[in-house]
Amino acid sequence: MQKLKITGGRRLCGELEIQGAKNSALPLMSACVLVGGSCRLKRVPALADVHAAARIINRLGCKCRREGKDILIDSSVLTGVDIPDDLMRSMRSSVIFLGALLGRTGECRLSYPGGCELGPRPIDLHLSALRKLGAVITEEHGTLRCTCTGRLRGTRIELSFPSVGATENIMLAACTAEGETVISGAAREPEIEDLARFLNACGARISGAGGHRIVINGVERARLHGTEHEVMPDRIAAATYLCAAAATGGETLIKGAPAEHSGALTDVLRQAGCRVFESGRGLYLTAPARLRAVPMIRTCPYPGFPTDAQAVVMAALTRARGTGMVVERIFENRFRHVDELIRMGADIKTEGRVAVVTGVDRLSGAAVVAPDLRGGAALCVAACAAEGETEVTGLNLIDRGYEAIEKALTELGGKAERVSG
Ligand code: EPZ
Repeated sequence: MQKLKITGGRRLCGELEIQGAKNSALPLMSACVLVGGSCRLKRVPALADVHAAARIINRLGCKCRREGKDILIDSSVLTGVDIPDDLMRSMRSSVIFLGALLGRTGECRLSYPGGCELGPRPIDLHLSALRKLGAVITEEHGTLRCTCTGRLRGTRIELSFPSVGATENIMLAACTAEGETVISGAAREPEIEDLARFLNACGARISGAGGHRIVINGVERARLHGTEHEVMPDRIAAATYLCAAAATGGETLIKGAPAEHSGALTDVLRQAGCRVFESGRGLYLTAPARLRAVPMIRTCPYPGFPTDAQAVVMAALTRARGTGMVVERIFENRFRHVDELIRMGADIKTEGRVAVVTGVDRLSGAAVVAPDLRGGAALCVAACAAEGETEVTGLNLIDRGYEAIEKALTELGGKAERVSG
C-alpha cells in the first residue's frame, strides 16, 4: 500500500504551475461523447477520476487516449449506452455521462454514482429535470434506464438548489433538444462557463452560463462537431497549495491560479493575516509566522466560499491564534478530516454542520488516513505545518483530484515523498 511521508516544520516558499481543473475536465470529457467527432482537451490533469472517465468513454465504444498533457477523444463511433456499475461507483462525475448520452442517442443505462462519502449524494434534481425534457426514466434493481423517443423537448427548468452536476447534465442533454431550454437557479461555478465555452465551440447555442439563468437553444445532433479546448486551471488545487504555504508562514506564487474565481478564498486568507494578490502570472501569497483565526467561514454555492476548500482552510487554521467557526452548508458529512486533524493535535469541536476550531501552538506528525479527497489534502496541509513526520494513507482518494501532490508540495519547498509498504 502506498503512503505519503511528509516532514513538517519547513516554510513553503516556492512557485508552482497549477494543474488543470478536475471539475472542468470531467464534464468536458462527457461533452466530447455528446458532440461526436474528434476533440483535443489540453492541460487535462493526470488523475484517477480522469482515468475512470476515459475508461467509461472507451467502454462506450469511443476512442480516448492521452497525448502528454492532452486527452484526445474520437467519439465518431458510439457502440453502447451502458455505463458499467463498477465505473459508475468509481466517482460522482460518472452521472455526467447521462446528459451527454441522452443528448447524443436518446438512451442511457447506468446505476447510481459513487464518489466521496460526503453525505447522501442524491441525483433527484438531475432526474426530475431530464424527465421534464422528455426522458422516460425507470429505476429498478439499482439501475436507471433512460430513454426518449426522438429528440428531447426544450422546456423551462427551475432548480431548487444550484446543483453543479444537475446544471451540467441539463446543459448537455438540452444541446440537441427541440426548441429552447431555460434553466433558472443554475449553478454559477466557473466550470459551468468552461463547459458552455466548449459546447458553443462545438456548435451548440448556450448563453448565460456563469449566471443563474442559462438558455440553451437546441440544435440538430448532426450540427455538433469536435474542437480543441484548454481546460481551465484548478481553483481548488490552487486553494490547497495556498493553504499549505499559509499554514507554514510561507511565501508562494501559484502560477496560473485563477484569481478571478478565488475571491471568497483569498478574502478568508487575508482575514487570517496573509497578503494575497494577483501577479501577472497567478496568485501570490505571503503568510505571517502564525495565522489569525477567522471568526466565521460559511460554505456556499459559487461565488460564495467553496465547500471543496473547507477542509484545507480548516487545516491551515488549526494553528491560528484564536478561535473560529466553520459552517458546512453544502454537504451533510464533510468534517470527516476533523478526527484525523485531532490526532495531529488540533483542537476542533463539531456539532452537525458546525465546527469550532481553536488554534493550538503546535501540531505533531502522526499516522493519519485520508477520509475523502479534500479531507486527504487537508491532512497534507496540516502535515506541512506539523512538527516531525506524518504518514498519510488512503492515497487513492487524494490521487482522484491532485496530480502527484507530493511533487507539488516538494516543489513548493516542503518535504513529501510517496513510499510503498
Ligand atoms: C460538484 O459536485 C463537484 N464535483 C464537487 O466537488 C463540489 O463539492 C460540488 O459540485 C459543489 O460545489 C464535480 O464537479 C465533479 P452538487 P456535485 O450537485 O455536482 C445536493 C470535489 O471535491 N444535491 O452541486 O455532485 C447534494 O446532495 C467534489 O472535487 C441534491 O440534493 O454537487 C449536495 O448536498 C466533491 N440532489 C448539494 O446538492 C441532486 O440531484 C451540492 O451538490 C444533486 C445535488
